[in-house]
Amino acid sequence: MKKREIKRIGVLTSGGDAPGMNAAIRAVTRMALFSGLEVVGIRNGYQGLLDQDMVDLHVRDVSYIINRGGTMLYTARCEEFRTPAGIKKAAQICRDRGIDGLITLGGDGTFRGAYELSEQGIPCVGVPCTIDNDIAATDVTIGFDTAMNTVVELIDKIRDTGESHARCNVVEVMGRQAGDIAIQTALSVGAVAAIVREYDVDIGAMIEKMKKVRLTGKRNFIIIVSEGMGKDYSNELVKRVQTETGIETRLSILGYIQRGGSPTLRDRVLATQMGAAAVSNLILGDTNDVICAHGSNIVSEEMSYAVSLDNLYKGHMKPEEIQKMPPSLKYEMDKVIAEKKAYYAYIQNLIGTVSL
Ligand code: F6P
Repeated sequence: MKKREIKRIGVLTSGGDAPGMNAAIRAVTRMALFSGLEVVGIRNGYQGLLDQDMVDLHVRDVSYIINRGGTMLYTARCEEFRTPAGIKKAAQICRDRGIDGLITLGGDGTFRGAYELSEQGIPCVGVPCTIDNDIAATDVTIGFDTAMNTVVELIDKIRDTGESHARCNVVEVMGRQAGDIAIQTALSVGAVAAIVREYDVDIGAMIEKMKKVRLTGKRNFIIIVSEGMGKDYSNELVKRVQTETGIETRLSILGYIQRGGSPTLRDRVLATQMGAAAVSNLILGDTNDVICAHGSNIVSEEMSYAVSLDNLYKGHMKPEEIQKMPPSLKYEMDKVIAEKKAYYAYIQNLIGTVSL
């Protein structure tokens, strides 16, 4: 893409907050200042852009935030920005305020907004920040590692009381429609199963196995449920497990604890790498991209590709849209999706094998 003169960039956080967002804001600001750019922080996500709620960021403004959860720029969900008029208004504000490029920290909804903005001529680069890890184009999102470690710490405590009372504890975790938090934490806490949308677990077989291993003296059981299974799923599962196994069963819904806390080293490193890469992309003219992690490599994928892959993976793509896709692109996306599903099956089988 033609290199565009970038003198002043904007940075915002949008959607659900995630531990590591502050580390990313710090990296964006420091990398931009180091590169001779001006930086404007936009508060409250896209709503703040429309309200022109902005603050110039200097080197000291991002001191001592790398270790803090949440986002110093705040975040909000914005209905107006979802409208064509809202997008056009936001693009005009960027031009009026001399914002030559925008770095958007957030999840899939954030990237859809950034893509629309880039269609209006505002160069954007997205940085994946969400505890859900539900951006198919990247192996991992900022906030995911911290949220998982929070869940592990909490479930270890729940297991203590489960052991004392010989109980089964059903634990519901966040993740929106994605089961990544559930499946990884289930393996790491020795859960009996991870109930997620991406992989059908045979509940009857799980119950039979619980009854069997109970007879070998196993006192406590953990079953992790991803919230994407639906509002009443966990309560119904508690009733069914208690009735069919005779094991006292309780429910813990971890909720918003998973969204806070000081980011782990892993998230601080990832956020710093991705934030710095986003600035480089803007300067080099590689815009309308999403910064992704592929293994230990930090790469960028076109925003249009990342949004389409996400829509296909989450089943949000209409049949006529799928029909229109170039076969080679569809093949590439199907391959990525198949790899993700195969990984889920592998972890689920491992959980089933080692949790006796
Ligand atoms: O996207 C992050 C997330 O925490 C999801 O896991 C959860 O379902 C959702 O946000 C909750 O949204 P809100 O903070 O708007 O209630």
